[in-house]
Amino acid sequence: MNKFYKLAIFVVVVGSLTSSAFSASPETQALYKAKCSGCHGIDGNASPTGKKLGAPDFTMPEVMKLTDSELIDIITNGKNKMLPYKEKLKETEIKDLVGYLRELGKKK
Ligand code: HEC
Repeated sequence: MNKFYKLAIFVVVVGSLTSSAFSASPETQALYKAKCSGCHGIDGNASPTGKKLGAPDFTMPEVMKLTDSELIDIITNGKNKMLPYKEKLKETEIKDLVGYLRELGKKK
């Protein structure tokens, strides 16, 4: 086996080990913590403040059955007490957040 193949295998193995817990980037996780966890909680299970406003638990099937575009639409344009994020976040950031919500939804 030449050096190149050894290196390639090393990269694949290390990559799959480190990404096992979460595939969302550290930036996306930090964004969620900063902008969303105040109401939706670190693990997607609404915080006390969020519960008062009526924020749902992201792990509920009612939330997870929404399509990506429905979730993107809610985050972009808001829904009742949930404020719109179209001025505050980039489209790509909102998409990444939806991916992260799916991961939170799968954890339980
Ligand atoms: C000020 C509190 C607050 C913050 C901050 C907040 N949300 Fe919400 N969110 C809510 C509330 C309340 C609802 C429920 C709206 C309703 O259905 O009446 C909600 C609903 C949602 C829903 C829809 C779930 C469903 O079943 O309809 C998604 C998705 C969501 N929020 C994502 C986010 C994301 C992503 C962020 C961060 C960018 C965020 N929220 C920040 C309060 C908040």
